[in-house]
Amino acid sequence: MRYHQLGEIPQKRHVVFKDANGKHRYEQLFGTEGFSGVSSLLYHIHRPTQMIRFDKPYDVSPKAAVEKNITPRLVQGFKAKPTDDFLEARTPLFFNNDLIMGVAAPRKSMTDYFYKNGQCDEMLFIHKGSGKLKTFLGDISFEYGDYLIIPRGTIYQMEFDTEENRILYLESFSPIETPRRYRNKYGQLLEHSPFCERDIKVPEYKAPIDEKGEFLIKVKKAGMIHPITYATHPFDVVGWDGYFYPYGFSIHNFEPITGRIHQPPPVHQNFEGNNFVVCSFCPRLYDYHPDSVPAPYNHSNIDSEEVLYYVDGDFMSRNHIEQGYFTLHPGGIPHGPHPGAMERSIGQKETEELAVMVDPFHPLNLTQAALDLEDDSYKTSWLE
Ligand SMILES: [Fe+2]
Repeated sequence: MRYHQLGEIPQKRHVVFKDANGKHRYEQLFGTEGFSGVSSLLYHIHRPTQMIRFDKPYDVSPKAAVEKNITPRLVQGFKAKPTDDFLEARTPLFFNNDLIMGVAAPRKSMTDYFYKNGQCDEMLFIHKGSGKLKTFLGDISFEYGDYLIIPRGTIYQMEFDTEENRILYLESFSPIETPRRYRNKYGQLLEHSPFCERDIKVPEYKAPIDEKGEFLIKVKKAGMIHPITYATHPFDVVGWDGYFYPYGFSIHNFEPITGRIHQPPPVHQNFEGNNFVVCSFCPRLYDYHPDSVPAPYNHSNIDSEEVLYYVDGDFMSRNHIEQGYFTLHPGGIPHGPHPGAMERSIGQKETEELAVMVDPFHPLNLTQAALDLEDDSYKTSWLE
């Protein structure tokens, strides 16, 4: 994350700041981890605290249908039904105390309310669709292959270009960050990082909206959606600066690290949070030792669950994989290529595979929705 500034801000923080007519602007510190995490300073036209009404909250926390799972699972994400509303479309599939992940196929843009996740950072991976993430810090255009990283507290709306949208989403109870080993002590991305600051899509300036009325913000906190009606438009920020803001990153800008022999999954790492990592598997040249085996070796991820989400291309190590499939390989038992996949990979020069992997370090619970979308034959599919 780097320093960014948009719009009008005063020369110094925490000093008088007025518009041309002598009316005060209202400063807000917007940050995470108390006052010790990253933050930005925002300047509003109106005080951002003018609440009119609190409607009845409703529970959206995921419910476990299977706990203590040790069975490999295949879940067909594209079979989740499209739904008009962005929040209602969210179908949680897997969760633990560190994260919630699932799919959403929303058809309609958010027009009559705003959303704020007050408990989690969000990662939205755009598998199908395009549009604009509209936030009180500016807008970010998105398209196929974009990750949108939306820090907790960001007030936003999703505007879609069409009704054909498929999103992989992840909510993290800790900040979602780029891998620490790819950053120097100042936070700059290092030369061996598979991406750099130029690849980051920062919010673009948009004029503040000075409107009074009734503005519904659905605030997620403690697993509940709390509908709160405010008296002023939330996108009334005239300017801001700091390190805390949503951003976009295209998976197509991830530069794969390859080698003469098989490179382990950490070379594909893109993001991390407390007790999980997110990896991007992108089209790349295969290992180039004359006797290399490009398919991954069998491995025992004893201390980690592994969720692969298949985006596009042939997936080298698995048979019968389609777009939108999830495979879950639980910690505690080894997994590896399907019969024939290792042999098939030898001599191959490159792969077009595109996938997002999330490895949570603690066991995942499965929801009923995950079971409803499951292909139950997967667990024995390694038998010859
Ligand atoms: Fe694996």
